[in-house]
Amino acid sequence: MRFTQRMSRVAVSQTAAVVAKAARLKATGAKVVDFGAGEPDFPTPANVKRAAVQALEQDFTKYTPTGGIPELKKAIVERHARDFGSNYAPEECLVTVGGKQAVFEAIVATVERDDEVILPVPYWVSYLDIIRYAGGNAVLLQTREEEDFAVRAIDIERLITPKTRMIIIDSPNNPTGAVVPPEEMEEILVLAERHNLWLMSDECYCHFIYDGGKPFSLGISKNRENLLVVGSLSKTYAMTGWRIGFALGSTELLAQMLSLQSHSTSNASSITQKAAVEALNGPQDSVATMLAEYNRRRVRIIAGLRSIPGIRCSLPKGAFYVYPNVAAYLDGEGLADTNALADRLLDEAALALVPGPAFGTSQHVRISYATSQEQIDEGLQRLKAFFARQERITLPGRKTRHGATPDF
Ligand SMILES: Cc1ncc(COP(=O)(O)O)c(C=O)c1O
Repeated sequence: MRFTQRMSRVAVSQTAAVVAKAARLKATGAKVVDFGAGEPDFPTPANVKRAAVQALEQDFTKYTPTGGIPELKKAIVERHARDFGSNYAPEECLVTVGGKQAVFEAIVATVERDDEVILPVPYWVSYLDIIRYAGGNAVLLQTREEEDFAVRAIDIERLITPKTRMIIIDSPNNPTGAVVPPEEMEEILVLAERHNLWLMSDECYCHFIYDGGKPFSLGISKNRENLLVVGSLSKTYAMTGWRIGFALGSTELLAQMLSLQSHSTSNASSITQKAAVEALNGPQDSVATMLAEYNRRRVRIIAGLRSIPGIRCSLPKGAFYVYPNVAAYLDGEGLADTNALADRLLDEAALALVPGPAFGTSQHVRISYATSQEQIDEGLQRLKAFFARQERITLPGRKTRHGATPDF
């Protein structure tokens, strides 16, 4: 049987593959420490669950308008206005099946064959495959670990060509936790306007900001014709399985996205939409509680990783990931690359993490610290013990016997 050419341009998400492999191991009874999954370990807040039960009891179980129930659109724009000071109208909001559907629809609606999309590296794995699926080419903006993976408007501008259609910014970033400062974000939006490009600002982690930084949305900008903000309740309210996200943007772009949605999923689940209204309108203290706990875990995991000889790790300012550099242990043989490292960690130490190639870099692994402090401590012990058993390349620039040169 034949499959389409466009399917040859996508593969199952590598993060999902790690999660699946870890789940298989867990099913055999192994005590896996899971640093792989990019989702909160907290339960969905009780008031949100109650709202879903109520929706069921009230038989709110039928199709809804494709783009979401009016009550939810209102709740989204009002929460956004309260949290960030934006002034979106409900017509400028589309409710989607997770933020991922918004990303997918936006790219498919705006990117043609051979169009270019500027994508900073490291990137969230799905952008790349969706761009390819749409027929476009990702133009990768390399960032530097020494600069905490900073993304700057000036570097983006150098990559703009007549074929550029879109710029994607993901801040706080998955996988690095890096945050693009608000002033820089504004400059990137000005750039998008000047060159008539779409700017997709993925703000799925916008509430997870540390070290006194304030949650920020580019949606507060005055000129936002070229801007699409993507948001999600998945991480903010520990609702990954409920599948609810949203897009805020021009009514023209949203109409295109809605059109696609009407032929694919139709509306997001009616029950979930009611629960989302409660999440957004109800008490917000669970968000602050989770943030405080993530911060404690972040400090713990950074300290633990930095105490392992040869491991470098920049301090993430947001989200719930760290992205350590493990080049000192990649010897081109037993640990040829980070894929081999992730495999061996799972097989030999029952520890799951995601290798960097999923995010476009070769010397890093992504660790999600959205897991308990006990699991973090246990995982760090296993990492320490595993690396202690490996040969390490210690001198900067020294070639290994296999010719690989660590880049520090
Ligand atoms: C950067 C980023 N954007 C979007 C999403 C989509 O999340 P969801 O579809 O659960 O809202 C994720 C999920 O991991 C993500 O990391």
